[in-house]
Amino acid sequence: MSLAIFPGSFDPITLGHVDIARRATTLFDDVVFALAHNSAKRYLLSLDQRADLAREALKPLGVGLEIVDGLLADYCKETGATAIIKGLRGGADLDSEQPMALINRHLAGIETVFLLGEPRYAHIASSLVKDVARHGGDVSDLVTPGVADALRDAFADDGDT
Ligand code: PNS
Repeated sequence: MSLAIFPGSFDPITLGHVDIARRATTLFDDVVFALAHNSAKRYLLSLDQRADLAREALKPLGVGLEIVDGLLADYCKETGATAIIKGLRGGADLDSEQPMALINRHLAGIETVFLLGEPRYAHIASSLVKDVARHGGDVSDLVTPGVADALRDAFADDGDT
């Protein structure tokens, strides 16, 4: 039984993440998202919000999500994961993902499998989605309806976030 772990901070999950998740389900018996902490980031949405929105977006694919409160490498060892999955939109993604893939292989001996995203989603990044939403733009083609609503609420609560 092969298990792929798709880690990220998902602030918020986008249609690009969902597309990669769908591709991963064709390669592995089981795919689980790991909502982990990126110490380089400040988050707009709470951990619970990010988890709920991602679970809702992934439900049609039969993909679950776990909150990982520590090293991703330890979680991969505990679960007996076969591989870590990451999506690549282009070369810049590979530059930032390579050190993470190497440290995870160093710590847990686990390989990272990179999947190329759909070109039509290549411009979708969580940070850009938030910026568009922050300024009142339409994000309905970039995220699920639940995420679009959550972003609208977040920026209505705090226009400066
Ligand atoms: O979506 P992101 O923010 O690029 O995801 C990065 C994330 C959360 C996967 C990464 O920061 C992570 O694995 N955090 C858990 C702690 C850890 O294992 N750190 C060392 C490897 S980067």
